[in-house]
Formats: sequence, structure tokens, C-alpha cells
Amino acid sequence: MAQAADERAEDEPPTRVRQALSAAVSRETEGRASGGAAGKRLGSGSPAGSAGQVAPAAPAGQAAAAVTNGQAAGASAGRGTADAAAGQIGAAAAAPGPGRPSMTPAEAALAALGSGGREWPRPRSCRMITIANQKGGVGKTTSAVNLAASLALHGARVLVVDLDPQGNASTALDVEHRAGTASVYNVLVEDQPLAGIVRAVADIPGLYCAPATIDLAGAEIELVPLVAREGRLSRAFADYDASNLDYILIDCPPSLGLLTVNALVAAAEVLIPIQCEYYALEGLEQLLRTIDLVKSHLNPGLYVSTILLTMYDGRTRLASQVAEEVREHFGEVVLSTVIPRSVRVSEAPSYGQSVMTYDPGSSGAQAYLEAAREVADRAAELGQTG
Ligand SMILES: Nc1ncnc2c1ncn2[C@@H]1O[C@H](COP(=O)(O)OP(=O)(O)OP(=O)(O)O)[C@@H](O)[C@H]1O
Ligand SMILES: [Mg+2]
Repeated sequence: MAQAADERAEDEPPTRVRQALSAAVSRETEGRASGGAAGKRLGSGSPAGSAGQVAPAAPAGQAAAAVTNGQAAGASAGRGTADAAAGQIGAAAAAPGPGRPSMTPAEAALAALGSGGREWPRPRSCRMITIANQKGGVGKTTSAVNLAASLALHGARVLVVDLDPQGNASTALDVEHRAGTASVYNVLVEDQPLAGIVRAVADIPGLYCAPATIDLAGAEIELVPLVAREGRLSRAFADYDASNLDYILIDCPPSLGLLTVNALVAAAEVLIPIQCEYYALEGLEQLLRTIDLVKSHLNPGLYVSTILLTMYDGRTRLASQVAEEVREHFGEVVLSTVIPRSVRVSEAPSYGQSVMTYDPGSSGAQAYLEAAREVADRAAELGQTG
């Protein structure tokens, strides 16, 4: 029955949106090297194939289960207040030593991910990527957290900036974010240094988080009378030593208000997660227009570097149609990897974990691993790696 209902809803996305997408694509591709980004689509019109590709048989289902269990035990023992002043970023963090388990959670995750622990290419300088889509629940936070975890597991040093008053990224990374905790709010509204709020994420060496608290909910209003209100985050980064970092991922709230605009002004790249469902394309036009406005007035270097298709349900033709449509209009900006719907992905945050450590053998973890590898490899192909 559900299948039938899905198939009834298979109309083409509205022409207006398609036209907007076409216009946006022309704008996005203008002035960019023609053969630059990775053209690694797995074959047009075969997102199901893509989904299949990104979810190979788990390297060891049993190993994954063992990791999950082990992780749960490790989590309660080692979590909490792992502070990290900015100066500590890059310090060696996870060498197993006396009194430590022979395999850290990160090492166990790597083993179960089956990625061989190979270090991925690292960018020559820190890549700052804003993850934005004003539509709610499309996978912004899930993507921020799991891409960041995947990159960190492969040798990168990654900071996740939680710019959403909901604090979901902080929850998923198990970083303290009760009201009153020093957070992005204090940085944006009170000019506190960013370095003072950055915390190390337990279990994944090289991963850091700047938490958001509910206090940030008032920031949209409190920022209004402040000088250069759109550039507050950018200014905070100007005073922050990011030389030890490879990536900064900014998780935006579901709006195009001042918080998201601050993220767009601060970063060079935008990653747009698009959920593979009909309404996902609605609102993209507005997002792209906002990006254009920020680009022309406040941040000339801003561009949409990446589009990630999320929550792909291979059982519905609608999902593959949406994916095809997005690929047709955005071309190589869309990652080949598609993130499938996966219960494990949605369960992970309630354990204060990314799915990469919660269940590395799951299809969701494997997909995020592949997506992150594409993000890292694309920089290499564009000559942005050192
Ligand atoms: N691949 C997936 N499979 C299953 N559930 C998913 C997947 N990705 C995300 N979810 C779930 O969907 C919900 C929305 O995801 P998420 O919070 O990442 O979206 P968001 O865009 O950050 O939302 P918001 O706009 O509220 O910030 C969450 O409950 C999340 O666990
Ligand atoms: Mg979110």
C-alpha cells in the first residue's frame, strides 16, 4: 500500500523549480574550470545503482556488532568533558598505551569500516564548508556529524561548528551544551574567542566541536542591532588559529536567518543536503538566491561545492526520480554517493555518537564513509591538497 502511494506521487518537480535549478547550474558552472571537479557519477539515472555501490556487504557484520557493543561500554567510561583549547588541536590523542584498551573505538570503527585505515588526502589549507538548507530535517546535522567523523577517522583534523539552537550536532557528538555552557552564542553575541568554546570529541581523535546551546535561539534577534551582524562568525574565525585544522563544517539551522547568513559569509564552500523526496526541491531556489546575494555583497568566493542526496529509499521510484533530477541540473557538484535511509543512522545520536562509531558496518556508515572520501578526493583533484 505504501509503495502504491509513493508511486502515485511521482509527478515531475514543478517547472518553476526546474527552471530555477537550470539558472542556478549555469551560474554555478560559470567561471569554473570545465574538467575540475570529480566527474565520477556512477552512471546517469541510476541512483539506485549508486546506493547499491555505497552499501557493499558490511566488512564484517559480526565485527560491527561487536564494535557497537564495545563502544557502548567505552562511551559511558570515557565521555563528558574532554576540553580542548584551540592550542591543543592537532595534539596526538589516541595512541594506545598502558592501561588503554588494545583497540580504541576509533580503531575498532576503522577496522569494521573496512577502509584499511588509509589516510585520505588532506587539503593544503583548511576547507570551511557550510552545510545549509533552510528546509528542516533533510540531513544537515547527520551529514555534518558523519562526514566530520569519517574525515577525522582518516587522519584529518575537523571542527564541527554547531550553529543551530537545537544543538543537535553537539548532542550527536556528545559535547556539553546545556543552557549557560560557553557556546557559539557567546562567540557571536558577546565577542568571546572561538578557541575558548572548542571541545574535543571523545573517541574520535582529531574531531572537535564548537557547541550550540538554546541561548542561540535569541541570537537571531540579539544580532540585529550589532555592527556587521552578518560577519560575526567570519570575524570570530579571523581571530582563530585554524592552521592545525583540515576542515571546518558548519551545521546551520533550518532557516535563512542571520545565523545561516553568518555561516555563508564565513565559509568558502556550501554543501547542500537534499532529501530524496518530492518537496525537497521546493525552497532550493530561495536558498540559491540567498547564496548568490551573500556572494555578490559579502563573500565573493562563496560557491556551492557539494550536493549530497540523503535518505534515499531505493524502494521508491520517486526517490530515484528526484535524484536524477538533481543530478541533471547540478551535474558534477552532486556526489556520486547517495546516503540511504538507515535506522542505524537515526539511532546513533541518541547514543551521543556518529553512526561511524555506533555501527560502522551499517549501510549508512558505509555511505557516509564513501561520501566523505569523495569530499576529500575532490580537493585532491582540484589541486587543493598539499
Ligand atoms: N540516512 C538517514 N536514514 C535514516 N534517518 C535519517 C537519515 N539521515 C537523517 N535521518 C534522521 O532524520 C532526522 C532529520 O535529520 P537531521 O537532524 O540530520 O536533519 P537536519 O536537516 O539537520 O534537521 P534540522 O533542519 O531540524 O536541523 C533525524 O531524526 C535523523 O536521525
Ligand atoms: Mg540539524
